[in-house]
Amino acid sequence: MSYLFNVYHVLALYLSCVASLSSAQNLKLPLKAVNLGNWLVVEGWMKPSLFDGIPNKDLLDGTKVQFKSIKLQRYLAAEKGGGSIVVVSRNSSDWETFRLWRINENSYNFRVSNKQFVGLSRLGTNRIVAMRDAPGVNETFRIVRKDGEPNRVRIQASNGLFLQAKSDTVLTADYGGSGWDDGNPYVFIMTVSGSLQGEYQITNGYGPDKAPQVLQDHRNAYITEEDFRFMSSNGLNAVRIPVGWWIAYDPTPPKPFVGGSLQALDNAFTWAQKYGMKVIIDLHAVQGSQNGMDHSATRDGYLEWGDSYIQDTVKVIDFLAARYAKNPALGAIELLNEPWAPLVTLDTLKKYYKAGYDAVRKYTSSAYVILSNRPGTADPKELLSFAQGLNRVVIDVHYYSLYSDMFNSFSVQQNIDFIYNQRGSDLAAVTTPNGPLCFVGEWSAEWAVKGASMQDYQRFAKAQLDVYRRATFGWAYWSYKCQYNHWSLKWMIENNYIKLN
Ligand SMILES: *[C@@H]1O[C@H](CO)[C@@H](O)[C@H](O)[C@H]1NC(C)=O
Ligand SMILES: *[C@@H]1O[C@H](CO)[C@@H](O)[C@H](O)[C@H]1NC(C)=O
Repeated sequence: MSYLFNVYHVLALYLSCVASLSSAQNLKLPLKAVNLGNWLVVEGWMKPSLFDGIPNKDLLDGTKVQFKSIKLQRYLAAEKGGGSIVVVSRNSSDWETFRLWRINENSYNFRVSNKQFVGLSRLGTNRIVAMRDAPGVNETFRIVRKDGEPNRVRIQASNGLFLQAKSDTVLTADYGGSGWDDGNPYVFIMTVSGSLQGEYQITNGYGPDKAPQVLQDHRNAYITEEDFRFMSSNGLNAVRIPVGWWIAYDPTPPKPFVGGSLQALDNAFTWAQKYGMKVIIDLHAVQGSQNGMDHSATRDGYLEWGDSYIQDTVKVIDFLAARYAKNPALGAIELLNEPWAPLVTLDTLKKYYKAGYDAVRKYTSSAYVILSNRPGTADPKELLSFAQGLNRVVIDVHYYSLYSDMFNSFSVQQNIDFIYNQRGSDLAAVTTPNGPLCFVGEWSAEWAVKGASMQDYQRFAKAQLDVYRRATFGWAYWSYKCQYNHWSLKWMIENNYIKLN
């Protein structure tokens, strides 16, 4: 009995050692990594030409539009921001801005600030209201643009008739003609005041017939085995790969998302292994959107991720952990990129992080689990005590010298001093003995300084490398490739702005 127990005991011990050795055990910390941004989760600003083939590409999901009645010289607005009629009385406020949900290149839903959808009244009065929480046939409108003047439009409702602004409180769908005379109440000027260019926009913009091929071509060309050879021979030993939740439903994810990113991630693991690199899988886009930004794959910019999404999001982590836990190239799984404070609450986030951590630990005890801090208004130390009770966890902080007015007035030297002083102490504050490791998971050598010289950029990049190498888990540059040179680590290395070897 005792002999048997010992055999099993030794065997179990041996197996668990083999399991952990096979993976993150041989991780050389701190990591020097780069983000493969805009690869498996599209961000239009990094390569706008990806969107060029979309008809009416200025009217993608989430674009904010306003309609001004030429006759009344007033804007359409949802009275009280929604839940009531649509009026034609506003000069300017937030209430006259509608967020598009694109049905196809001509048909759209309009979402108002209280999140209802504009529609034809069910009462049969032809009045236009903003009452419904979910769009249907009566909430779908066709935007007809005038030839040669694309911002001069008529708006056709589900009854086949066009909207007319008859008075400041009477907006009806009852014009059946095709005129463009400015003196008439059916002509509107459309202003496009904001837009999103993420994975939702590109897939829904191209539509189900074209999107799979466009995305496939992009993924095949954007990152190849040659890039892994380049990275490893230039001193990088890891990649952080943003992925979207739809990867767990490959090859047939819910529309408009398309399959193929899972195969690309498999390829990345193969290439990483071949060139002795590690992969950090970073769940960058989740259902509901955790930050309302393009790179969260939001449809319309509203942040809706919260408690009710935790279960589905954990399923994605479970899928990724199950698939890659035994892969020797796996370094870490990051549970959620940039959940925004205060809309994502600390309570919700901890609940999710605990469940996500447990999901990873079902398959591996050695892979690191990365917890992203909340950008926005949160305390960067808020996760430290929570992480104390967990094994092999890492706090991810993102340091950009942008996105705050403060940086606009900084000189070159002030920027460099800021890195050594402020970022140095920011990093020290999240580095505690026996606490979680720390990861600068995103940074870049781009800044708000205009007309900086090559030497200025070199000094700025060096300052960041000097400081971020103190991050106990390592750092990752944003990004590997980008249309803007200083955002591309590949370009920065090739042109001697940054030297890692
Ligand atoms: C809009 O501006 C005009 C003057 O240009 C003013 O008379 C009118 O009261 C304003 N309407 C609203 C709703 O603010
Ligand atoms: C659309 O609105 C009309 C009245 O304008 C109503 O008769 C019809 O039932 C509505 N359709 C749906 C699907 O709600």
